[in-house]
Amino acid sequence: MKSYYDAHESGYKEIKSKGYVGWGNVKTLEELGDPKTLEYLRSSVNQWVDSPAGKNALDLGCGTGTTAFTLAKLGFAVTGIDVSETAIGMANELAVKQNLKINFEIGDILELQKRNEKFDLIYDSHCLHCIVFEEDRSKVLAGVKASLAESGVFILDTAVVTNNSNPTGGIETLRFDNDYILWHKTKPSTARGVVEVDGQHWCAQRRFYPSAKVKEEVVQAGFTIKSVYFDAQDESGHGMLRLILS
Ligand SMILES: C[S@@+](CC[C@H](N)C(=O)[O-])C[C@H]1O[C@@H](n2cnc3c(N)ncnc32)[C@H](O)[C@@H]1O
Repeated sequence: MKSYYDAHESGYKEIKSKGYVGWGNVKTLEELGDPKTLEYLRSSVNQWVDSPAGKNALDLGCGTGTTAFTLAKLGFAVTGIDVSETAIGMANELAVKQNLKINFEIGDILELQKRNEKFDLIYDSHCLHCIVFEEDRSKVLAGVKASLAESGVFILDTAVVTNNSNPTGGIETLRFDNDYILWHKTKPSTARGVVEVDGQHWCAQRRFYPSAKVKEEVVQAGFTIKSVYFDAQDESGHGMLRLILS
């Protein structure tokens, strides 16, 4: 593991070994994906993209392909990137099963600027909240900005908290700090994002900011907020912030 986000690979190896096709213990393509997320994606494309046919879309942190499949079915030429080799292998297999042609690539969204490619739609497929450190998040947002076509749309779909919500769910191997970083207990490691606190080793896992902080961050990165939607997941204040940006 070179960086904290390479830890996703072991999650996908486990998903694959159990015969699942994605997160949430799902075994079939029909069950794949959160219905509310997919509906939001479809209706946002409907509202904000003038005819997807012939346009291209980039799915950030595509995992096993859930939202990339939705975008391809809407008519986009889709590229999906994910840091996990296992996830990309599974996404390719699932695309073949559906007769969908999608360009799935193993890649790091911190390196978007190096692609030198423009997209009409960029969708953050629940990936930005996996990018923890401020310098990494700025790099991702600058990469998205540089990769967005002039009249392109960036849909940011990211998990947020309110000031008093605690996303650890009481699990002892997780820690949520005052900077909104969720850490998981790990073995000693030289990977970037692993720290030692009182003899215990912790790996950075998520950045669950409050909504206002995410909005500040995207404006600072040069985006204009066109629409805001909050999907509350539970009574603790934890939920998905969904922004349409240009
Ligand atoms: C919360 S999962 C969501 C996966 C998928 N979009 C879905 O909805 O099932 C976040 C995804 O982001 C990927 N990821 C995390 N950091 C990444 C990075 N730096 N570059 C590319 N993908 C990354 C993970 O491997 C994981 O598949």
